[in-house]
Amino acid sequence: MRYVITGASRGIGFEFVQQLLRRGDTVDAGVRSPEGARRLEPLTREVGNRLRIHALDVESDASIRSFAADVCAAPVDVLINNAGVSGLWCAFTEVDYTDLARTLAVNALGPLRVTSALLPALRRGAVRKVAHVSSRMGSVSSNTEGGAYAYRMSKAALNMGVRTLANDLRAEGLTTVLLHPGWVQTDMGGPQATLPAVDSVRGMLRVIDGMGPEHSGRFFDYQGEEVPW
Ligand SMILES: NC(=O)c1ccc[n+]([C@@H]2O[C@H](COP(=O)([O-])OP(=O)(O)OC[C@H]3O[C@@H](n4cnc5c(N)ncnc54)[C@H](OP(=O)(O)O)[C@@H]3O)[C@@H](O)[C@H]2O)c1
Repeated sequence: MRYVITGASRGIGFEFVQQLLRRGDTVDAGVRSPEGARRLEPLTREVGNRLRIHALDVESDASIRSFAADVCAAPVDVLINNAGVSGLWCAFTEVDYTDLARTLAVNALGPLRVTSALLPALRRGAVRKVAHVSSRMGSVSSNTEGGAYAYRMSKAALNMGVRTLANDLRAEGLTTVLLHPGWVQTDMGGPQATLPAVDSVRGMLRVIDGMGPEHSGRFFDYQGEEVPW
């Protein structure tokens, strides 16, 4: 199967690439910078052309267009929209609205733009799945804390976008879900995080593998439990 992963340079995205290659899949990995590409390059020595590395900044229309032009030459089976930023975690009176707008652009608009650009290749794919790495922090009903406006608002907007997308694309057999990866030991998750990336990604791949039309537009954690909106 052919997978496309955004934000593949480190953290959860990098772990997705490793696990998919290990089980024999083909991966097109989007990375934002040449340093990110360099981190993935050693893997190409082991798997040859099963891993292709592409430049991708999900905030930039031009970058998404050029990424899609490369990737859409062949059918895509599964797209994993993983790239994300944390935004500034601060109290209400300290919210930086430039940062908030950028966080929305990356976390909420980016995944929808990438999905839209890759739709022609997804339509030609065998399984037509799109997984979005969201966060429980975007759950409105389970939020009992203040702060982290940019991150919470961006993931809540992503959740609504993906739910709407599921309704729009259901008729053509495209399945899309939202995933909460747990609190994962990455640069974003920080040193206190409880879950190794390897376990989070193993769980999310199990959820993605089991995804069918009945799951479209729903929000699951890495263990397959439904997350409240
Ligand atoms: N870690 C957690 O506990 C946790 C919990 C819930 C949800 N999540 C979500 O999981 C996803 C991955 O997070 P992570 O923990 O692996 O974070 P991370 O270690 O900070 O990695 C983030 C990845 O996203 C990429 N990225 C950031 N901005 C981008 C842009 N504009 N265009 C393309 N790529 C971009 C980064 O690329 P560069 O290397 O170029 O910066 C990096 O590859 C995110 O969507 C995050 O919100 C994480």
